[in-house]
Amino acid sequence: MKPFGVTEAPLLTKPAAKRLFIKTYGCQMNVYDSERMADVLRPLGYGMTDTAEGADLVVLNTCHIREKASEKLYSDLGRLKPLKGEAPGMQIVVAGCVAQAEGGEIIKRAPVVDFVIGPQSYHRLPELVARTARASGERLLADFAPEEKFDALPDARSVTGPSAFLTVQEGCDKFCTFCVVPYTRGAEYSRPVAAILAEAQRLADQGVREVVLLGQNVNAYSGLDETDAPSTLARLAVALATVPGLDRIRYTTSHPRDMADDLIAAHGELHALMPYLHLPVQSGSDRILKAMNRAHTAQSYLELVGRIRAARPDMALSGDFIVGFPGESEADFEATLDLVRQVRYAAAYSFKYSKRPGTPASAMQGQIAEDVKTERLARLNALLYEQQEAFNVEQIGRTLPVLFEREGRKPGQVVGRSPYLQPVWAMGDAALIGRIAEVRIESATHGSLVGSLVEGRSDPHIKATPKLVEVAV
Ligand code: SAH
Ligand code: SF4
Ligand code: F3S
Repeated sequence: MKPFGVTEAPLLTKPAAKRLFIKTYGCQMNVYDSERMADVLRPLGYGMTDTAEGADLVVLNTCHIREKASEKLYSDLGRLKPLKGEAPGMQIVVAGCVAQAEGGEIIKRAPVVDFVIGPQSYHRLPELVARTARASGERLLADFAPEEKFDALPDARSVTGPSAFLTVQEGCDKFCTFCVVPYTRGAEYSRPVAAILAEAQRLADQGVREVVLLGQNVNAYSGLDETDAPSTLARLAVALATVPGLDRIRYTTSHPRDMADDLIAAHGELHALMPYLHLPVQSGSDRILKAMNRAHTAQSYLELVGRIRAARPDMALSGDFIVGFPGESEADFEATLDLVRQVRYAAAYSFKYSKRPGTPASAMQGQIAEDVKTERLARLNALLYEQQEAFNVEQIGRTLPVLFEREGRKPGQVVGRSPYLQPVWAMGDAALIGRIAEVRIESATHGSLVGSLVEGRSDPHIKATPKLVEVAV
């Protein structure tokens, strides 16, 4: 087994000639994309640095999902301007979902930006940055060509721990009325099974023990298998579970209407599939769900949760919620609280509705006042906080297999994840990093668990101890 962070790419071990700074906003898909942008640029001599100061290339990988996320781009560009003034050779690239949605405007509004590149075009970064004069060709690449992108990405990936993201599906055809993703990421596209298995195998060869399969609608995965027939996420998970070295499979984000029977059944049968599911519901009011175009009701969601828990009784659920969607009455909001009480979430993400340009909901009657949104969010969060804490406290006294990821804050402490994605802290040797070991849980807070290693109960099939090796900067 090779140590983490070392791949076949020879440049990884040589000092990089040029410095690359990437700032990532938004979801896990953007985290994956940022890692892949670094992989694309590495053969050109770019190595990562953790500050924009002195960087040769700065990439801002942006998120458009809520107004605040988008605004960050312009404030960051304001901060970069003097840096570029001092170092005119610095190139600034805006990538990600704001780039896709507002590319032309960015070029007009922010002369400090050299290039704008959408989420389906970043495999073309090398040809952009190799240009010495930015006036000598296109400055905006925003085509939707996911297939071409995945084919063009290099095999080599630099990984920095035992858990890695792996994008299997991209884009969205659902058009929830509040959401920009169908416009920024394009139509649903699934990568072929063979390409995913090959990427997973390479990750496992580098010491990765867990893959987190990513997709905007990951459970709508329908990539072609070896017979050119569409597969399913469940079948993909079964295939991934056979990759030597891979012990844990997770996936995110799922849409309730794509939660197929074979996937639910797989949770009861496939040991590698972790008992944690992010299944956003957004609202507990049927009237609001209809206005959101979610294509499910509160009842159908609750029934689905019931079927999932019948297959895997200890399934931890997490969700996304939007409060203050246009027209949301106090009774609609109460229906959301009601649904939350029935589901009992292990974790959750809740947001105030944010008006997004070009989406149907932004033009709807009955926009909700900011103070009402704030008040509802606080009430929802109080309930979700209680549920998360209760879920964590329930683990006290149990022995859980923990995949250790890094050293803790205190000397001699290591931190990993339980099957339910909870951070678990334990006293133990750094050699445990990259291994799965059993921990008896002794205490819990809202955010994490603390326990003691059960002697002699770490996984047997890791022979060498993988070490974390930072990529040369
Ligand atoms: N594809 C995923 C979610 C993608 S966006 C899904 O269907 O669940 C992540 C979350 O951001 C959404 O689940 C939603 O809760 C939130 N979100 C999206 N658009 C929003 C908006 N306009 N205002 C507030 N929250 C929003
Ligand atoms: Fe957005 Fe809805 Fe698509 Fe999720 S399913 S990305 S919330 S449009
Ligand atoms: Fe944001 Fe784009 Fe992800 S809008 S949430 S970065 S898909």
